[in-house]
Amino acid sequence: MDFRHLGKSGLIVSEIAYGNWLTHGSQVEADAAHACVKAALDVGITTFDTADVYAQTRAETVLGEALDGVRRESYELFTKVFWPTGPGRNDRGLSRKHIIESCTASLRRLRTDHIDLYQAHRYDVETPLEETLRAFDDLVRQGKVMYIGVSEWTAAQIADALRIAGEMGFDRIVSNQPQYNMLWRVIEAEVVPLSEREGVGQVVFSPLAQGILTGKYQPGQPPPAGSRATDEKGGANFISRWLSDDVLSRVQQLKPIADDAGLSLATMSLAWVLQNPNVSTAIIGASRPEQVRENVHASGVVVDTQLFLKAEAIIDEALAAQPA
Ligand SMILES: NC(=O)c1ccc[n+]([C@@H]2O[C@H](COP(=O)([O-])OP(=O)(O)OC[C@H]3O[C@@H](n4cnc5c(N)ncnc54)[C@H](OP(=O)(O)O)[C@@H]3O)[C@@H](O)[C@H]2O)c1
Repeated sequence: MDFRHLGKSGLIVSEIAYGNWLTHGSQVEADAAHACVKAALDVGITTFDTADVYAQTRAETVLGEALDGVRRESYELFTKVFWPTGPGRNDRGLSRKHIIESCTASLRRLRTDHIDLYQAHRYDVETPLEETLRAFDDLVRQGKVMYIGVSEWTAAQIADALRIAGEMGFDRIVSNQPQYNMLWRVIEAEVVPLSEREGVGQVVFSPLAQGILTGKYQPGQPPPAGSRATDEKGGANFISRWLSDDVLSRVQQLKPIADDAGLSLATMSLAWVLQNPNVSTAIIGASRPEQVRENVHASGVVVDTQLFLKAEAIIDEALAAQPA
């Protein structure tokens, strides 16, 4: 496993992280969840990502159980706040009240006294940014949170947060967590250039487009048994956007390129994400330990740029053919 700094902070993270959205507390049973965490630790993953909202808070509980007994200093724990965790008006968003209450609950579920990276899961248009940043800063001063990040914020929102932090003397955001994969390159236009200038690292999610970029979904065929596309508890809905025959057949065309690189399609797709120097870590999901063991081979791999350009050209054609 290779390691990178989280943005320009001093925190070191494994360049492949393990996340438990849709899996722990939902798609997979606890023993499979624990086996995935164990596999992640065994292959050198030290960075784990979850959120208060995943599986209606059960995902944090499962991850807390799975990491119980592991030396706390040996791994980095990331979680998030924003989406509703209860029925109340204040059970959501980035108000001071919800940030402090949600952090307290996350610490309890995760069985720890500190979170290494606490992330605003989205931007809250209804709360003044100063209030949000001061609440995060208070958690840092209290030692409950080590670093602050955001998720899917625009370049302008990140720039505002950095400016306010500078003016008010608050801790700066060190990371952003966007979707980024060969099928979804939105951050390249504005978020990455700003982040590079400001020392903000990308903690990217769905680097395999939820499994599409493994090539296991075949055009014109039903999805493989047990895959996310068959998970009626939520996964099937989230992955459906990528399940057009047009996208799936182009993804199949990437396989010979992965063969030329001497990689599986999954590991080539992850290596593509990691070639971006602004990426601090790529968070993989896994429903079984074998996936973790396969995917980790992407760490440290160098792929010929020409192969990546060929892959990008194929994907660009597929995306151009998608309805707007
Ligand atoms: N900030 C946000 O808003 C946000 C949003 C989404 C995700 N995230 C974070 O990012 C993490 C990863 O997201 P993701 O799960 O969508 O990532 P992903 O790595 O793109 O997809 C993971 C899924 O693909 C399948 N898969 C993975 N490796 C495979 C392999 N080698 N062979 C075959 N199938 C394989 C598995 O699903 P099946 O086995 O079920 O098919 C696995 O659960 C989440 O856990 C979460 O921490 C954050």
